[in-house]
Amino acid sequence: MENYTGLISAAYIVAALLFIFSLSGLGKQETAERGNSYGMLGMAIALLATIADPRVSNVLVIFVAMGIGTVIGLRLANKVEMTGMPELVAILHSCVGLAAVLVGYNSYFEVDHGLSIVLSDERQIAANIHLIEVFIGVFIGAVTFTGSIVAFGKLRGLIKSSALMLPHRHKLNLIAVIVVLVLMVNFVGNGGADNALYLMTLIALVFGLHLVASIGGADMPVVVSMLNSYSGWAAAAAGFMLNNDLLIVTGALVGSSGAILSYIMCKAMNRSFVSVIAGGFGTNVVVDRDIDYGEHVEVNADAVAGILLNAKSVVITPGFGMAVAQAQYPVYKMTQALKAKGIDVRFAIHPVAGRLPGHMNVLLAEAKVPYDIVFGMDDINDQLADIDVVLVIGANDTVNPAAAEDPTSPIAGMPVLEVWKAKQVVVLKRSMNPGYAGVQNPLFFKENTQMLFGDAKDSVEKICAAF
Ligand code: TAP
Repeated sequence: MENYTGLISAAYIVAALLFIFSLSGLGKQETAERGNSYGMLGMAIALLATIADPRVSNVLVIFVAMGIGTVIGLRLANKVEMTGMPELVAILHSCVGLAAVLVGYNSYFEVDHGLSIVLSDERQIAANIHLIEVFIGVFIGAVTFTGSIVAFGKLRGLIKSSALMLPHRHKLNLIAVIVVLVLMVNFVGNGGADNALYLMTLIALVFGLHLVASIGGADMPVVVSMLNSYSGWAAAAAGFMLNNDLLIVTGALVGSSGAILSYIMCKAMNRSFVSVIAGGFGTNVVVDRDIDYGEHVEVNADAVAGILLNAKSVVITPGFGMAVAQAQYPVYKMTQALKAKGIDVRFAIHPVAGRLPGHMNVLLAEAKVPYDIVFGMDDINDQLADIDVVLVIGANDTVNPAAAEDPTSPIAGMPVLEVWKAKQVVVLKRSMNPGYAGVQNPLFFKENTQMLFGDAKDSVEKICAAF
């Protein structure tokens, strides 16, 4: 038995190292595939080691669970579109949260609790630590569970993406945290034998709902990575309860990398990290404002072809709409046609264009657009004033001048691609509908902007045909 335990610990260490290599590989486009392979190998070793553990009494249950998980996982992976990835990630996070809650309750019910049980000092300390683990694990798990469901609903468009503004919402959050702390003291003080755990679970479920509901659409990318972080900590908490070192290490890796990603994204979007993780604390924005921006000007595909052919420099800024229309292939065909006529064509990518980090880069790489004509926002913003034509393809929030010009806008302060500074702008979208953040875009009404309505793929194909 001891030999086995040593072997399993060794397998867990190898798996943990592979997970670290995996994360490091995923940090760069060129090494991402290798990173993925390391992750899969690590997970295979972890699964085999767990199944082979002699302390596991019922291997059949594991196989049945794995069978069900494999069928669901394969179906989802085959079905999901690139544009649906964030919502899939959100719903998977909710499963991690629920798992942590169930593990917490399971390890709570496994032990007899109550003041009537007299323990030695050492065992009392161990029992208290176990109770704290259970309490915190269930709390993080429950918040992650309901928070992720709301994130899923918002990303899927089932729930309005704008922020829920309950009166005194921050006070409500603060009161919930204080009550949970009081309940924890009570729970541990009473040897775990009271209803504090049930009451806390209820509060945590509502708290998770409210926390994510009160974050506006424009901050959703950060919310998804923040929930990713929470799910990691929930897994780490489950690891403590199950005495499983690998789960602790893996949970901590996911938890910290999610927190780092959230921080980087907050910086990129000029958002306060604390404000976002505290449910939009400090933001009091009005989303449904009725501002008259004037009239927009419509144009057809033939005219856009003429505008492009007369330009010396063209910048294309893709957004979520290009992903929905799957327009990346005709977009590259159009780019090649323009380049063949000696026109300088470049792509400008906003860090949160689309629905997941790197979304546009992946689409452009898929269509074989060379990396050297693809520029990040910070590298190209200064040059936009000298560009003859900017072609906005299915982007909206990421090119919204209100972010820079209107301090009362819900997206005020968020860095955007300053496309309105170019000599001419043509926007390809289907209607005047707002983007993900639910705010109107004054760009569409500017004097140098023209709108080409229709599905982005159809529009680009029509432009190519007009060439
Ligand atoms: P959005 O602001 O979401 O705007 C996309 C535009 O595409 C819409 O206004 C829509 O207008 C248009 N569109 C949709 N389908 C189309 C089609 N088939 N053909 C042509 N146009 C189409 O996009 P964005 O500028 O890329 O900004 C991304 C937003 O998503 C940001 O607010 C960001 O915070 C948020 N977000 C980002 C992430 C990450 S990490 N990237 C994750 C979650 C949320 P019509 O309906 O009129 O066509």
